[in-house]
Amino acid sequence: MSEHKTYKVETLKVPKAWKENAFIDKDKYEKLYEKSVEKPDKFWGKEGERLDWIKPYTRVKNTTFEFPNVSIKWFEDGTLNVAANCVDRHLKKRGKQTAIIWEPDDPKTPAKHITYRELYDNVCRLANVLKAQGVKKGDRVTIYLPMIPEPAYAMLACARIGAVHSIVFGGFSPDALAGRIEDCKSEFVITADEGLRGGRKIPLKANTDTALQKNGHVKTVLVVRHTGGTVPWTDGRDVWLDEAMAGAEAECPPEEMNAEDPLFILYTSGSTGKPKGVLHTTGGYLVYAAMTHQYVFDYHDGDVYWCTADVGWVTGHSYIVYGPLANGAITLMFEGVPNYPDASRFWQVVDKHKVNIFYTAPTAIRALMGAGNEHVKNTSRKSLRLLGSVGEPINPEAWEWYYHVIGEKRCPIVDTWWQTETGGILITPLPGATKLKPGSATLPFFGVQPAIVDADGNILEGEAAGNLVILDAWPGMMRTVYGDHQRFVETYFSAYKGKYFTGDGCRRDADGYYWITGRVDDVINVSGHRMGTAEVESALVAHPKVSEAAVVGYPHDIKGQGIYCYVTLMSGEEGSDALKKELRDWVRNEIGPIASPDQIQFAPGLPKTRSGKIMRRILRKIAEDEFGNLGDTSTLADPGVVTDLVENRQNRR
Ligand code: WTA
Repeated sequence: MSEHKTYKVETLKVPKAWKENAFIDKDKYEKLYEKSVEKPDKFWGKEGERLDWIKPYTRVKNTTFEFPNVSIKWFEDGTLNVAANCVDRHLKKRGKQTAIIWEPDDPKTPAKHITYRELYDNVCRLANVLKAQGVKKGDRVTIYLPMIPEPAYAMLACARIGAVHSIVFGGFSPDALAGRIEDCKSEFVITADEGLRGGRKIPLKANTDTALQKNGHVKTVLVVRHTGGTVPWTDGRDVWLDEAMAGAEAECPPEEMNAEDPLFILYTSGSTGKPKGVLHTTGGYLVYAAMTHQYVFDYHDGDVYWCTADVGWVTGHSYIVYGPLANGAITLMFEGVPNYPDASRFWQVVDKHKVNIFYTAPTAIRALMGAGNEHVKNTSRKSLRLLGSVGEPINPEAWEWYYHVIGEKRCPIVDTWWQTETGGILITPLPGATKLKPGSATLPFFGVQPAIVDADGNILEGEAAGNLVILDAWPGMMRTVYGDHQRFVETYFSAYKGKYFTGDGCRRDADGYYWITGRVDDVINVSGHRMGTAEVESALVAHPKVSEAAVVGYPHDIKGQGIYCYVTLMSGEEGSDALKKELRDWVRNEIGPIASPDQIQFAPGLPKTRSGKIMRRILRKIAEDEFGNLGDTSTLADPGVVTDLVENRQNRR
């Protein structure tokens, strides 16, 4: 990768054309930002008008971060429907305009262009199918689909009738799916016969059936016919979606929803326990998703916008479906992967559909950078105007490559920091307003008040490094953990009372720019996929030969972080390469391929304090090969354990 190291952008001014043509320039940013934090009711009261309300709100912000009485309500007496805002209200002006461009896995399969009118028909029909199956307002519907247009139809159909969707990423295993169905007691599942990624088939229906052996309460499985592959079938429970939709009414009146009614649940990993069902609600979420989509990507009418995320993650929710469609945008959904059939695919898709705005993750950028510039140079990319990054810190080297090679110095890069919990982007450049520094997410979006605290919760001023907190509420934030409000309050508001704790470390420079340094809790970020080390550990200890496991992240060139597992075997068991493979397959099976361990080290003992707590700090250092810098080991019950671990690690070389 050394050929890329020669670029050196320190700060990049806002290009003149951007200053003049973007929605927000520096002046506007500063004035509006001040207003947004000083007079939030006035500021958001006006912003809320970007949506069509059935009954307009009279109250705007009613929130408190005070521990333990945390409560978040926005626009609380207003009513609206999300699907009506994302589809119906565009029909008059944009009925014939493309809403969704679908680009399939195989470039030889024709792409689809779905107009707003067609989107309306599909959403209404699917909503009527759900109703006919007995889905009612407030019911949870689990969606386990590949990157085809149907998940967007399904999300909007749920929103239309007031059902709460819970999307489970198509790469998760049957066990992970079963857990998520169980947690929210969902009785309805929407899946497909098979998914397709990089030419490989993913048996979604078969996985669903395996999951449902554990979920006896599921009444209906709607199945999208996608690859046409044969699937196991249960009469009376399974229904082909195309057949049901063909027979359904093409009109379905949107349900009147309160602004604070639930819109969706999305499971995400934390430092402890099972994944949490992050709950987002209707009004505030959509205002925030739409507004950030418009300003961060400077989305103008007719722009072709492509976010490469999967709809199974929050980025897909807010920035493939809800934000863009609320804005009447053209949003591209891509079924495939960056390197299939070869490493030019992203840029071929950009050229084919004349994409103007492109939003991806650093892990993809690094992988493509490693594949070599020739895969970029054989494409034009002239349509591109703006580039975006999300999911993990982008290292300056990857930033520079993205900027110079992909964007040919023409396209600003918006490095957007946010989380499943935040619903939308919180810290980001605005391309017409903010000068850029490679590796910095720069400045807060309107209404967002970040602060850096030390370990005791003292707010640090000026240039500082510590933990990132947010001081006050914004409309897009999560409202609770589904079914466990206590866990919500404990997880996010107990570490630093009165403040939302992000779980991220952060530095602020002399210009007030924020530099996210990564998670400070036991969450790791593998190829932009968020994972709790505790989840991988519990998968490992479920194996009959494993007695104990500790999992840490370590720096990985492409993935950002890799998964490093220390495994203690049951007495009498021998470590071997074959067993390592067995454990790797085991974890893939328990959670999904994204949780596949990168390295496994058999450890006769783990470093523990006298009270039995595993000292992960030491395990992280060993995984990083930082043997000289292990810190204080004097509080360990048995310091000799560390010597063994270091020796074993070194001998593996
Ligand atoms: C990390 C994804 C640095 C961060 C939208 C956060 C980032 C976690 C950035 C949330 C960024 C996301 N720079 N780090 N631009 N964006 N992160 O919930 O650690 O999947 O806490 O949401 O990703 O991951 P999640």
